[in-house]
Amino acid sequence: MKRLAAFVSGRGSNMRSIHAAIRAGSIPAELARLVTDNPSCPAAEYGRKHGIGVVLHPTDGATPESLLVQLRQARIDIIILAGYLKLVPMEVVQAYPRAMLNIHPALLPAFGGRGFYGRRVHEAVIASGARYSGATVHFVDEQYDHGPIVAQAMVPVAADDTPEALAARVLEQEHRLYPLVLEALCRDAVRWREDGVPVLETMV
Ligand code: GRF
Repeated sequence: MKRLAAFVSGRGSNMRSIHAAIRAGSIPAELARLVTDNPSCPAAEYGRKHGIGVVLHPTDGATPESLLVQLRQARIDIIILAGYLKLVPMEVVQAYPRAMLNIHPALLPAFGGRGFYGRRVHEAVIASGARYSGATVHFVDEQYDHGPIVAQAMVPVAADDTPEALAARVLEQEHRLYPLVLEALCRDAVRWREDGVPVLETMV
C-alpha cells in the first residue's frame, strides 16, 4: 500500500477523482496528506472534511527541509501534483525520483512551462489553430512541465471552441487518465526504458 501526498492550490477536482478511485479500491494507496499554499481553497476544505492531514506550504519560515521532514514523518512514497501553483522545492523533487507526477491540461511539450496555467493554456491552444489538445501526465523534474511524459489523452479542438469548453473537455480526460497512471505507479507497473522513457505495462 503506497502512501500519497497531493499538492493542491485550488478546486482539487483531480485530487478528488484520485481519492474516489482509491476509495473504490482501484488504486492500492492511501491519500495521507494534502500539501497546499492556500488553506482556504476548496481542495483543503475537502481534505479537512475527509480526515486527510493538510500541510500548509509555503508558509512563514517554511524551508524545503521543513516540508521534507513532514513528508518523511507521514511516510509519503509518492507525490502527485494536482493544480499546485507554487514551484516544488528542488530538494523535494530530488527526494522523490520517479515518484512524483504532475498533470497538465495540454499535449506537452507544447503549451507548457512558466505562464501556461489555467485558462491561458486553452487560449493559446485555440489561438494556435491546433486541431487537437489533451491531457498529459508526466514525472516531475526541476523544470515546470518538463519531466518524462508517461501518458497522454487527446481531445479535438472545435472550430468555434471557447477556452471554457475546451478546458471542460480536457478535464474530463484528466479525471480518467490521472487515476489510471497513478494506479500503474502504485502497482509497480511502470517500466523505465534505458533511454529514460517511462512505459506503462497496462494500457490507459
Ligand atoms: C488541471 O487542469 C490540471 O491539469 C492543472 O491544474 C488544473 C487543476 O484542476 N495542473 P483541479 O484543481 O484538479 O480541479
